[in-house]
Amino acid sequence: MARKAYRVGIVGATGAVGQEILSLLDKRSFPVETLRPLASARSAGKKISFSGKKWEIAETTPNAFDGLDFAIFSAGASVSRALAAEAVKRGCIVIDNSSAFRMETSVPLVVPEINADALAAHNGIIANPNCSTAIALMGIYPLHKAFGLKRFFAATYQAVSGTGAAAMQELETQTRAWTTGDPPAHTVYPHPIAFNLIPHVDTFLETGYTKEEMKMFDESRKILNNNKLRVSTTCVRVPVFRAHSIAINAEFEQPIDLAAARDAIAAFPGAELCDDPANKIYPMPFFYSGKEKCGVGRLRADTAFDNGISFWVCGDQLWKGAALNAIQIAEILFPKS
Ligand code: A2P
Repeated sequence: MARKAYRVGIVGATGAVGQEILSLLDKRSFPVETLRPLASARSAGKKISFSGKKWEIAETTPNAFDGLDFAIFSAGASVSRALAAEAVKRGCIVIDNSSAFRMETSVPLVVPEINADALAAHNGIIANPNCSTAIALMGIYPLHKAFGLKRFFAATYQAVSGTGAAAMQELETQTRAWTTGDPPAHTVYPHPIAFNLIPHVDTFLETGYTKEEMKMFDESRKILNNNKLRVSTTCVRVPVFRAHSIAINAEFEQPIDLAAARDAIAAFPGAELCDDPANKIYPMPFFYSGKEKCGVGRLRADTAFDNGISFWVCGDQLWKGAALNAIQIAEILFPKS
């Protein structure tokens, strides 16, 4: 469907991910003919800047999708559930950042560096993976290609940007309150997040895992096309503004070779090898905010698994974990002519 330029809708244009989508469309010179920024009724009529022009925000209604080539949804699962089918009905392809459709068999769940071929089977909706899953896979996938992944354990250190703009504000406000000795008021999280760690991301299930933890299990299986993969994750919210970090212990079918593992990561387009501990070089969220590639480092032979590698991945959750992955999908479906 190559055109000179495309008619693009952004649902949740005022939000943390929506804002990054706008700046990445510009940065990557995506050919936009018309931009339709969409949000809640609260934002309707306000203006947003994009590519040197002002664009008026409209309320996200079914008719808002008329005449669009595609829309990227980043306003949460309930908005996606209510409106994605309406967009598709109007000929607008949906790239959805929410969890609403990820596990539906008719919806491809795509990380372009891994399974871009899955896009061919879409029926109007394409799902973008959970942020921690997308970032973890930037380290896991090249190692899987080299040694054959059997199972992995992950512990996430998730930035507040994953919860949205209000959570970023809450971390800033609590940090300022701490310096003045004021009590750290909180509304977004169940506990203060500044100077704290909250081992609770998304809601708890009967098993004791959270929904976020099971996304790593279910979505890794779907993206890697392996229903036998075993995954166990602990997700933790940390007082970091933007990039997520993940500690991973992975077991492989074949004997591992750390030099080959490093080469595989360095050659993978979504990752950057950042692994020279002797010189204090390893990925850190501070330095992976605003970077397209995820950093992979601290590679070592795992002491609990026979064919195991322990490693650490950092990636910008607003970019590879959301906006960038969605735009990479759009770039494949809607190429520059
Ligand atoms: P609005 O700014 O009008 O509330 P974040 O993830 O940073 O919290 O942002 C959430 C995004 O989702 C915002 O752009 C917000 O718009 C948008 N949003 C929230 N509720 C709705 C809704 N019912 N319909 C469309 N967009 C919504």
